[in-house]
Amino acid sequence: MSGHGDPIKMTAGRGAPLKGVAEVPGDKSISHRALILGALSVGETKITGLLEGQDVLDTAKAMRAFGATVMRHGPGEWSVQGVGVGGFAEPEDVIDCGNSGTGVRLIMGAMATSAICATFTGDGSLRKRPMGRVTDPLALFGARAVGRAGGRLPMTLVGAAEPAPVSYTTPMASAQVKSAVLLAGLNAPGQTVVIEKVPTRDHTERMLRGFGADVTVEQTPDGTRITLQGQPELVAQSVAVPRDPSSAAFAVCAALLVPGSDILVPGVSQNPTRNGLFLTLREMGADIEFLNPREEGGEPVADLRVRHSELTGIDIPADRASSQIDEYPVLAAVAACARGTTVMRGVHELRVKESDRIDAMARGLEACGVRVEEDSDTLIVHGLGPEGVPGGATCATHLDHRIAMSFLILGLASQQPISVDDGSPIATSFPVFEDLMRGLGAGIVRANG
Ligand code: S3P
Repeated sequence: MSGHGDPIKMTAGRGAPLKGVAEVPGDKSISHRALILGALSVGETKITGLLEGQDVLDTAKAMRAFGATVMRHGPGEWSVQGVGVGGFAEPEDVIDCGNSGTGVRLIMGAMATSAICATFTGDGSLRKRPMGRVTDPLALFGARAVGRAGGRLPMTLVGAAEPAPVSYTTPMASAQVKSAVLLAGLNAPGQTVVIEKVPTRDHTERMLRGFGADVTVEQTPDGTRITLQGQPELVAQSVAVPRDPSSAAFAVCAALLVPGSDILVPGVSQNPTRNGLFLTLREMGADIEFLNPREEGGEPVADLRVRHSELTGIDIPADRASSQIDEYPVLAAVAACARGTTVMRGVHELRVKESDRIDAMARGLEACGVRVEEDSDTLIVHGLGPEGVPGGATCATHLDHRIAMSFLILGLASQQPISVDDGSPIATSFPVFEDLMRGLGAGIVRANG
């Protein structure tokens, strides 16, 4: 588990063109939600394609601690015997969410309107991240939180015994905050309303409906207004988790950067709250074809055929930030190999991810010989063209899976190999990353073999 074992140094260098089919694992966001909604339902939810990354395994463990029966039947095949809305038991011990902000914030929401108490912690990365963004709205339901300075974990949450319904406008573009409020609203009487000025990933709304909740979504002058009728009986479902577009991003970007590459990445989400990267890459000149559009696991998906491309830097508007928020690290790596400058605006939320991703990418790119500029809300990368990135550095990953994978992708295209000081966090979201990339022909190795 990241942050608990020994660091794993990894190195990536130039090699043959990437070829083949990149079947990336299940979506992390949807996997967390399938386990949590399964636990809040009556009956047995069957899940296929569950991401078996550490983040999701930690959520599965947490759902057991709250009283659900969670079982693994085979690769990606799981079942959850739920306890029903309001049926969570009080956990006997501390809930360790490992590296997962999504896990801890959604679970806090799900328990906040039950008369139970739970203490949450996580690894060195998660303990630095702000929890006030969820405990503030959860307090409106009547829940009480006590944590470390700055609203940091470890933190104890006492759920509201008599929850009041809440109407809340999210102060930042955050699907985790929106989802925490909606999950808390499940066990409050009456209507819970969340208004978001900027749309964020909508998996919670979609899945709540799938489990039988009454959720309406309206566009209003104030933004997107989501209304949930409280205290529904959620009914167990079969959930087929689609592949994770945020994991697909690494294979797609690698193929764009490595000369001669031509790969197929099947089943990539075209959900408009998740597909910003692919639009951005096309604007940069990427040769990406969207084949066989269809629906999988309730999400619009397509197969992506990706060929090596010479890319040009662009100015990416702030209003695209939320639909590609997890993809900026790998985009920054791609931008380093593009001709001209790429400007990423409206990206302040990157400062409170698994690491400060603006800082982590800026320092790593500089170490690789790339010129960058940053301010609180912007990252600018001065591209050096397809053959131009010197590389030859060891980049610090700060317990952040996406920083680790992004520098390894850059190493596939840089003049000298690039190493990361610790690739172990990759297992939180993309446990088969190394095998999958090597299967395409990428030269990614561990320092100790
Ligand atoms: C997620 C929401 C996003 C994203 C994270 C997953 C989710 O975080 O960065 O990886 O599953 O709801 P924020 O809600 O903080 O924007």
